[in-house]
Amino acid sequence: MTETLQLDALGDLQRTQYCGDLRLAHAGEQAVLMGWVQRRRDLGALLFLDLRDRAGLCQVVINREANPELHARASHLRSEYVIAVSGQVVRRDPSTLNPNIGTGEVELIAQRLYVLNDARTPPFLLDADTVAAEETRLKYRYVDLRRPEMQRNLRLRHEVAAAVRRYFDGNGFLEIETPFMTRSTPEGARDYLVPSRVQPGTFYALPQSPQLFKQILMIGGCDRYFQIVRCFRDEDLRADRQPEFTQIDVEMSFPTMESIFAMVEGMLVAAFAAGGYRITTPFPRLTWEAAMMAYGSDKPDLRLPAMVDVSSAFAPEELEQLKLRADLPLFAIRIPQVGDLSRRERDELRPLVAERPVRLFEDFSRLAKAFPTTAARVQERSGAEAGDLLVLVGAPLEDGKAAGDARRQRLALCGHAGALRLALGQRFAERHGRLDPKDFRLLWVTSFPMFEWDAEGQRWSAAHHPFTSPLDEDLGRLVSDPGAVKAKAYDIVLNGTELGSGSIRIHQTEVQAAIFRQLGMSDAEARQRFGFFLEALQYGTPPHGGIALGLDRLVMILAGHTSIREVIPFPKTARAVDLMVEAPTEVSAVQLRDLGLQVRKPS
Ligand code: AMO
Repeated sequence: MTETLQLDALGDLQRTQYCGDLRLAHAGEQAVLMGWVQRRRDLGALLFLDLRDRAGLCQVVINREANPELHARASHLRSEYVIAVSGQVVRRDPSTLNPNIGTGEVELIAQRLYVLNDARTPPFLLDADTVAAEETRLKYRYVDLRRPEMQRNLRLRHEVAAAVRRYFDGNGFLEIETPFMTRSTPEGARDYLVPSRVQPGTFYALPQSPQLFKQILMIGGCDRYFQIVRCFRDEDLRADRQPEFTQIDVEMSFPTMESIFAMVEGMLVAAFAAGGYRITTPFPRLTWEAAMMAYGSDKPDLRLPAMVDVSSAFAPEELEQLKLRADLPLFAIRIPQVGDLSRRERDELRPLVAERPVRLFEDFSRLAKAFPTTAARVQERSGAEAGDLLVLVGAPLEDGKAAGDARRQRLALCGHAGALRLALGQRFAERHGRLDPKDFRLLWVTSFPMFEWDAEGQRWSAAHHPFTSPLDEDLGRLVSDPGAVKAKAYDIVLNGTELGSGSIRIHQTEVQAAIFRQLGMSDAEARQRFGFFLEALQYGTPPHGGIALGLDRLVMILAGHTSIREVIPFPKTARAVDLMVEAPTEVSAVQLRDLGLQVRKPS
């Protein structure tokens, strides 16, 4: 505490309203405001304070002549001191109106000042212009959270969660909690483990999702379940991945895919409305196959046009001249209204292409000079208009017979072209302001493959999770042609981000056992890992299905951000560290002994 400023007690002083809520209608009233000093401006006889609380800023005026003692005290206030001020709300002089803030038409003429707490100099300024390093923001998250943007993000998160709860409640769903101390659930990541003290050498796993519990709730007759639930996954972190994150988790008994889609679409309408946006339903749908062929991705960003195979616009000798394979697509990628690329922009693309077995034609006008008639056909087929960027991506001839069968080669080329399409879109459309983050394009991707070939393990793995039902018509090929089996699985995709994922589940023991076998799991191993679940399936399991959506990702996109850390109050860094509380930490020798654990540090 500074020597010059004594602290006051709050006593029974009560706030009359939030600083940020003061409006012209309050002019003439007495008010008591409480908050943080954002800025003090000393103009001699007049001293101005910007006082901030979660609702916003307002201006407090302290007049030396009218109140010399108060003025003297206020001149010691510094950034982030916590104060209460009582006084009169007045209309501002027309020359001092501030249209940039909601309270800009009024100010508070202070009559009494209560200094409730001092503060160390904040690690960064809290005005809108200051951009602090993320590490600093995370270490001093309590200061960062005071920024209006973070306040907006947390409020939005609350509004969305509240709307989701209201929606499900209104549709007969029960919010049911499931355990955090449980056993491993297979969602493809590593588990976070919790050692048991009572049974040394054994561990709980934190749930990667409540998948098996929600299915068991259906077996338990709960019929419609949802939960806004924390999940834990030890996996490589990215802008849209955190080690602990929140799912909107849903399960229904006796559903059709259609009834699940309709339910989720209704929920998203409510969630977007909570963020102030209107979206229309039903959402478009694409099968996985169609998404891969047209966008080279199972989470296509529909704000950019689909790729168009224009190979048939070329004569065979032209393809040969361009050193392109004729048996694989030649994709035209169109990015609307960003113009041709400059030489520097073309250079930027080089590293993106270098790693990929593709041939890229990024200078369409050069191509058009060499093959004018063909180029005109390409332009027409791709729907290109004046001012659009058009690039072509194909498979190089010298690649000869690349690895894999024809289908795999085609899919691989689609994937490369799709990645380039996205990179071009993100670089150039965004640079030209043509990729509007508030142009929300939702879609369902359906009919995913049931299995993926794990080349390293030389076996099939579940593309979704092993409780997903195959399409009825594909049951017969489970063993004979697993690569062709499609699943009753679906993703909900928003602007190139996978927002959620779900499926109709297997509800019959025999099918479940067959899937485990197909995944290379012996009956003994299946019993050891999922025995409780296989047993539960035998006691009258209704057909059921559901989905889980990432709440963090949904709020991130609604808030116009590209990192979920912006909408999580206390996120972790890419190295899974909480910089504020400094977790994880070592634990004491006593704790380790109690748990029967010994730590061997990596050398
Ligand atoms: P899935 O593993 O696809 O499905 O997860 C569903 C959704 O959760 C979000 N998500 C994440 N968000 C932030 N950080 C992460 N590390 C992270 N991992 C996943 C994504 C994703 O789409 N049990 C199944 C769902 C089901 O079948 O009902 C499941 O968890 O938005």
